[in-house]
Order: sequence, then structure tokens, then C-alpha cells
Amino acid sequence: MEIIAFCGSPRKNGNTDLLLKETIRGIEDAGFPVKMFRLNVMKIKPCQNCGGCEETGKCIVEDDMDQIFDAIRSADRIILASPIFFFALSAQTKAMIDRCQSFWCEKYLLKRPIQGGRLGRKGLLLLVGGMKKEIGIQCAEASAKAFFRTISVPEHSVLYYLGIDEKGAILRHPTALKEAYKAGKKLVS
Ligand SMILES: Cc1cc2nc3c(=O)[nH]c(=O)nc-3n(C[C@H](O)[C@H](O)[C@H](O)COP(=O)(O)O)c2cc1C
Repeated sequence: MEIIAFCGSPRKNGNTDLLLKETIRGIEDAGFPVKMFRLNVMKIKPCQNCGGCEETGKCIVEDDMDQIFDAIRSADRIILASPIFFFALSAQTKAMIDRCQSFWCEKYLLKRPIQGGRLGRKGLLLLVGGMKKEIGIQCAEASAKAFFRTISVPEHSVLYYLGIDEKGAILRHPTALKEAYKAGKKLVS
């Protein structure tokens, strides 16, 4: 089973990173390796809306998205993890998602289905917000859902935690890490 994970937080060992690592630990304990992409350290130019993908379904910008496009095509499980920034996904996460417009063109303009993986695709969305306002989760979830459906992930689960602000505060949450570990195991069961 091919499993990929996107970490959209710039903070290494921050709350999103810790939550994602625990999810990955659950998956690895179930016997599967996970390829993690740290979006913050990758060269990902924001989508230019240049129309370059409209006739081919291929993005013409050459940068680190090339490896992500390939990984998405062959993945059976996809995890998207992001902090909430200004009531939305982080810019790092959103830049990667916007570049998947090439998949959208391939699927909806060119009517070429994006293959759903050998085992049927599933997704997992992990979100962490410092405030206790649901609106950030709702906005982030809407974008993440559009991303998942565009790349032919027909179903995904969501784990989110609010009121987690200071770096590492997720470690003091009574259930978050356990839930993340369990969600990892469940994703590959
Ligand atoms: C630029 C910026 C914007 C933020 N906006 C929000 C927000 O709108 N809602 C919220 O709940 N938290 C917001 N936060 C707080 C982060 O979501 C919180 O600190 C989170 O724990 C960061 O996760 P990380 O440690 O994985 O980076 C913001 C933080 C930053 C740096």
C-alpha cells in the first residue's frame, strides 16, 4: 500500500507535525511505510493560472511539485495535515492544493478519470487551530474536500483540535495523540 502525507505547518515539531507523526506511527506499526512531504521546505510556486494545464492536464511549472504529482497518482492513502491560519489552510498547504488544478483539468475538462489507486483511495485530514472558533475548521475542510475529490479520494476522515496554540501544546491534549495513532491504524486497516 502506498501512503503519502503532507505536512503543511512551517513549525517542525509543532502541533500539526506532532499529530501527523503520531498518525504515521500508527500506520508504521500496522506494517506500512509512509512518505512524508514537508511542504514548507519544498519549492512550490503558487499556481499562476497560466492555462498551461488546460489542454494536457499537466502543469508546465517545473519545481518540486513534480514529485508530488507522481506520488499522488500512485498513492492509496493520502494524509493532509495543516494548521489553521487566518481561518483557513496554511499557505504552504494551499499552494500545493492549487497546483493540483492540473488534475482538475485532466478530470473535468479533458474527461480523463484520475485513477483511484489499486486498493481504493482513502484520505485523512488533520487540522490544528489555536483559537476555539469552528469557522477556521469549516473553511479549511471545504478546501481540503475539494482537493481530495479532485484527486479521486472519494472518502476521507477528519480529526481536528482547537485551542491548541503554543508549540507542543498538543502533547498536553488528553486524547489527541491517541486518536491520531488510532486514525493512522484505521486508515490502513
Ligand atoms: C499566521 C497565523 C494565523 C493564525 N490564524 C489562526 C486562525 O485563524 N484560527 C486559529 O484557530 N488559529 C490560528 N493561528 C494559530 C495556529 O493555528 C496555532 O498556533 C497552531 O497550533 C499552529 O500549529 P503548528 O504548531 O502545527 O504550526 C494562527 C497562527 C498563525 C501563525
